[in-house]
Amino acid sequence: MPLPSDPNRVIIFDTTLRDGEQSPGCSMNLGEKLEMARALADLGVDVIEAGFPIASPGDFESVREIARQVQGPIIAGLARCNPADIDRAAEALREAARPRIHVFLATSAIHREFKLRMTPEEVVKRAVEGVQRARERCEDVEFSPEDAARTELDFLAEVVERVIEAGATTLNIPDTVGYAVPQHYAAIIRHLKQHVRGIERCVLSVHCHNDLGLAVANSLAALLEGARQVECTINGIGERAGNTALEEIVMALRTRHDFFGLTTGINTKLLYPVSRKLSLITGNPVQRNKAIVGQNAFAHEAGIHQDGLLKERSTYEIMKPEDVGIPRTELVLGKHSGRHALKQRVIDLGYHLTDEQLNRVFEEFKKLADKKKEIYDGDIEALAENQLQTATGNIWTLIGFTSTAGTGSQTSAAVSLKHQDGTIHRDAAVGNGPIDALIKAINRITGVPVRVVDYRVRSVTQDMDALGEATIEIEFNGKRSRARAVSLDIVEASALAYLEVVNRVASRQLRDRLKPTDNVPTEVVPAS
Ligand code: KIV
Ligand code: ZN
Repeated sequence: MPLPSDPNRVIIFDTTLRDGEQSPGCSMNLGEKLEMARALADLGVDVIEAGFPIASPGDFESVREIARQVQGPIIAGLARCNPADIDRAAEALREAARPRIHVFLATSAIHREFKLRMTPEEVVKRAVEGVQRARERCEDVEFSPEDAARTELDFLAEVVERVIEAGATTLNIPDTVGYAVPQHYAAIIRHLKQHVRGIERCVLSVHCHNDLGLAVANSLAALLEGARQVECTINGIGERAGNTALEEIVMALRTRHDFFGLTTGINTKLLYPVSRKLSLITGNPVQRNKAIVGQNAFAHEAGIHQDGLLKERSTYEIMKPEDVGIPRTELVLGKHSGRHALKQRVIDLGYHLTDEQLNRVFEEFKKLADKKKEIYDGDIEALAENQLQTATGNIWTLIGFTSTAGTGSQTSAAVSLKHQDGTIHRDAAVGNGPIDALIKAINRITGVPVRVVDYRVRSVTQDMDALGEATIEIEFNGKRSRARAVSLDIVEASALAYLEVVNRVASRQLRDRLKPTDNVPTEVVPAS
């Protein structure tokens, strides 16, 4: 990427889909990654790191599809400094209008000695070769000396100078283990700016982890020393305690423009919708008191504060909720709202749905409006998300179920499923609670031996007749898969979410021509 003409413009490099996605509980499927990538492009990020193409066929495919389908930002793919990684990244990025290969190699003494078993000279050679190879395949090459914050300063400066000579256009300084503190991190950036020949030709970038809760503070300190790219993630998701939170960096720069004098290209009104979208997709709620996008971020409880606010907003509010896209009123639509109003609301909430998906959302919306007086943004998001994640061509479809539960009585569930060949299958089971019984009954029919590793239920909005959202994560053959479903009935939401993951596994089994485990349905009824 050429250096921005405005020296005060900060490049926002979003790594939600790479560093964020690789953390536990944050994995996304291809459709979800595409949806997030489109939302990030709408948000105005400059670079989307779409994945690590050599890591798995799924990662390769997501980088390739995002490169093909998402216009606007630079699309980056990560690679270690070895030929196979770099070639795979280049291949995944082939159709990107603006590709970037991001190569990395650890430089700290700890990593050289225990992980790489390489001498400093070997590290320099490998880094230079990696950057050269990447440059032969892509004009835009970023280099990261992994664990830079714990690397000897002189050696770090040497590596950086050599990769610049080799053609790196962006130099990223990762605090991989979240060890830095602001003054220390700022000093590293200052040292490099003072001692590395050619550094003025590159964009200097920062990448901080939040192990000590300092990722945002460290990134800001580096910007004050002249770094002009920040690597960050939505909601700060990422390895361990996470990465620098995009929304916090952007709003710090905007709110304290008087102090930093720096700008970004982010449309801040989309920060909250994008944060919600990620949270819905991954099933990870944002902590209530999270800065900028948490539920309490703009809630004032203390009487003195409320009184002050009523007199003059700026007494206790440094940002306006509407500046980050928090809706002024959440109540949006009702029974009599038409298709057009619904479509507009879905778009405003940041969803890209096909006409077919919109039609299905409208149908579901009408059904919901019959049962529930007031429909909130959260309900509409849930219906839109449902469409995005419901796979087409499911092997099993839920026809109906009953479950009984009560104090002192045994819980049981009976379920009917339709197979894609048209047959209806029914079975029943007892279990520890209605969900357990239902899952057991589904297992008896489908014969798909999955293990539930996580299960969460929450209400989508705050009213008593709120939609319930169930998120289920399962493990099958060492691979995890997660699905989410909503319904006014949480047992039904759970059944639908469970069936969604079972369908994915069943389709994979079919694809791999694996023989399904023995399946002994008790009753098979031909479809009418
Ligand atoms: O934290 C880190 O060092 C990384 C690099 C790959 C940039 O994520
Ligand atoms: Zn990282």
